[in-house]
Amino acid sequence: MLRTEQDGAMTGHTIAGEHTGQHYSEVLARLSRNAAVQRYLEIGVAHGDIFAGIACRHGIAVDPEFQLRTNVAANKVRVSLFQVMSDLFFEHLNLRRDLGGRLDLAFLDGMHLFEFLLRDFLNTEAICRRDSIIVMHDCLPVAEPMADRDPVQAGIRGRGTPFENWWTGDVWKVVPILARFRPDLEVMLVDAPPTGLVIVTGLDPASRTLGRNYEAIVEEFSRLPNTAEEIAQVYAEHPLVPTEEALRRLGGRSYANGSGWLRRLTG
Ligand SMILES: C[S@@+](CC[C@H](N)C(=O)[O-])C[C@H]1O[C@@H](n2cnc3c(N)ncnc32)[C@H](O)[C@@H]1O
Repeated sequence: MLRTEQDGAMTGHTIAGEHTGQHYSEVLARLSRNAAVQRYLEIGVAHGDIFAGIACRHGIAVDPEFQLRTNVAANKVRVSLFQVMSDLFFEHLNLRRDLGGRLDLAFLDGMHLFEFLLRDFLNTEAICRRDSIIVMHDCLPVAEPMADRDPVQAGIRGRGTPFENWWTGDVWKVVPILARFRPDLEVMLVDAPPTGLVIVTGLDPASRTLGRNYEAIVEEFSRLPNTAEEIAQVYAEHPLVPTEEALRRLGGRSYANGSGWLRRLTG
C-alpha cells in the first residue's frame, strides 16, 4: 500500500512510497477476462504490451506512432488500429461503422498532460454505456519530478533517484477535476505499480458537463501548482484501494451476452 509521507518526512521530491499491488498490466488483463469484455479501446498503445494481454472480441487501438513489438491480435477476434492522435480519432469516429457499438472497457494512456487526458476521458465516456469501465493510467505519481509537464525536465530532475526516466506528466489533475465537476461518477484510486490506476464507473454518456466547461476547467487547473504538496492532497482526499479489492468490487459484470466463443477466449 502506498504511504503518504507527512510531518516533514517528505524526502526530496518524494510524495509517497511505491505502489505495492498487482502490476497494472495484470489488473487490466484480469479485468478484461472477469467482465468478458466485447469491445476494448486503448488510447496510447506504444509497443502493444498491455493491448496484447487484453481478452475481448474487438480491440481498438489508437496511437499516432505505433511501435508494435508483440502480437496485438492475441486473445481477440478482431483488431482495429487507428494511427492518429486521439482527438482526430474521436472527430472522425462513426460508432456503428468503426466499432460496431459502445465500449465495455477503455484504457486511457495517451499524451500525459491533463488537458489531453480530460478530452480523452470526456470523448470516451460519450461512447460508453452506464455500466462500462474507464481506466486511466499514471494519475498517481509517487515523486514530484515524474509529474513535470516536460518529459525532458522530468528526466533531468529524476536523475539519480529510484524513479529515473519515469514520466507521468500532470494527468493527476484529472482526479480533482472529476471530483469537482462530476461528483456523480464513481472514481477509484488503485494501488497498481508503477504509477497507479484510476478506475471510473457509473458513467453518464449523455453528460456534457466536462465538454461545456472544458476551457474554464483547463484555465483554472493550469494554475493549480504541479507540486508534491498538491499531489499529496489527492492521496489525502481519496482512499487508495488495493488491486485485489478493486477487482473484487468490479466483479459480477459480464458483457458477453452468453457468446460461446467469447467465453472460450476469456475463460
Ligand atoms: C506511455 S505510452 C503507452 C503505453 C501503453 N499503453 C502500455 O502501457 O504499454 C504513450 C503512448 O501515447 C501515444 N500518444 C501520444 N500522444 C497521443 C495522442 N494525442 N493520442 C493518442 N496517443 C498518443 C504515444 O505515441 C505513446 O505510444
